[in-house]
Amino acid sequence: MPNADRTHDIVVWGATGVAGRFVAEYLTERYAPDDLSIAVGGRNRERLDALATDLTARSDAWDDVPVVVGDATDPESLRAIARDTRVVCTTVGPYTTYGTPLVEACVETGTDYCDLTGEVNWVREIIDRFHDAAVDADARIVHSCGFDSVPADLGTLLAQSFAAETFGAPCQTVRIYLEGGSGSVSGGTMASFGELFEAADTDPLARQALRNPYSLAPPGERSGVDPGEQRRPRRDALRSAWTAPSPMAAVNERVVRRSNALLAYPWGREFRCTEVVPTGNGVAGAATAGLVAAGLGAFTAAMSVAPLRSAIRRYAFPDPGEGPTREEADAGHFLIRVLGQGVAADGPSTVEAEFGADRDPGYGATARMLGESAVCLATGDVDSPLDGGVLTPASGIGLPLADRLREVGFTASASDAGRD
Ligand SMILES: NC(=O)c1ccc[n+]([C@@H]2O[C@H](COP(=O)([O-])OP(=O)(O)OC[C@H]3O[C@@H](n4cnc5c(N)ncnc54)[C@H](OP(=O)(O)O)[C@@H]3O)[C@@H](O)[C@H]2O)c1
Repeated sequence: MPNADRTHDIVVWGATGVAGRFVAEYLTERYAPDDLSIAVGGRNRERLDALATDLTARSDAWDDVPVVVGDATDPESLRAIARDTRVVCTTVGPYTTYGTPLVEACVETGTDYCDLTGEVNWVREIIDRFHDAAVDADARIVHSCGFDSVPADLGTLLAQSFAAETFGAPCQTVRIYLEGGSGSVSGGTMASFGELFEAADTDPLARQALRNPYSLAPPGERSGVDPGEQRRPRRDALRSAWTAPSPMAAVNERVVRRSNALLAYPWGREFRCTEVVPTGNGVAGAATAGLVAAGLGAFTAAMSVAPLRSAIRRYAFPDPGEGPTREEADAGHFLIRVLGQGVAADGPSTVEAEFGADRDPGYGATARMLGESAVCLATGDVDSPLDGGVLTPASGIGLPLADRLREVGFTASASDAGRD
């Protein structure tokens, strides 16, 4: 097992924040120190000590939870933490602002890493700067291990694995439906969202990363047949229902395309994936799809104008550190359905995968998705041909993550949806 001599199996970096605290609570409630050595990390010792005291009080297994202190703006402190750790699991965001020195420290020290980013422009920068070095160092840098993009990425992997096993051929197209859900947002999430729009307005490279559907593919492979996000209401032939654009499509679709590329195109070079929100049938379905599309368009337009953007960020977004309570994080639900279509030797095939949980998608469920991603990396419970690089959940961890999430109450399944 690589790095077995390091002090900590997992450091939850950013554990005093909203998402980080839920991850730290989840991991210390589910795993005992004999299973995994887990530490909490951040920049404020006093708040970290208080958190560690609280975590030990909640648990019979932990006498004390170790604390590590550093600063996202102090690369030497990050190198020291990474050198002593097998997996750094980070919720310190916005990642565009705070994330790069930590990735660099993990690559330099051959340390595995997972995060919650949905900042496509930043992931693109990390790929270009660090992928080759991470491959050389056997450091697995796995981005987007939360609600973006585990359900879409693993849902697609489940559908494709089922198609390969059952029909002997992958699906050439996949449609990802954000069926519904209820949950909350935190100040940190909205700050990261704001940074994404800031970058799209001010940085031509970020703009390009958000325009090109293949922007997260490896250099030299950033074009293809897939036109990218659905931007208007459309009637969906597969579902016989109306669909609206999905607010998460810009991230999730690119992550799924990167998975296909990193796994050496098992789903083909012509593979297409689209994520949408189904809105139902008939006039009501069409009207809802129109309203969702118009609302998303109006919000995007407003966030693209600098003075409006700063007013929205200032007055409409919660402050960093604000977010759901534990009770709220443990409530809520979400379901993603993936429909894949392929052509097997004996005719067309349709596969359906479902991925969901009865918890707030961005917090209670995300704490489990990120926490179990870190556990998979720390214990070597991965099904991946890749020992290092800037990776996705499906390409860097694979189906063991779905197995672990099923054990803690997630739906993660695939089935034959019937021959066409
Ligand atoms: N993909 C998903 O589903 C999903 C879901 C939830 C969150 N997220 C992402 O996760 C990130 C965090 O969100 P959040 O709501 O948890 O944010 P938050 O509550 O503001 O927490 C941010 C954390 O970063 C720490 N931090 C800030 N500056 C630092 C520095 N210089 N050095 C070290 N630590 C520093 C904060 O420490 P202090 O406590 O000392 O201020 C805090 O622990 C965001 O990027 C958000 O978009 C993604």
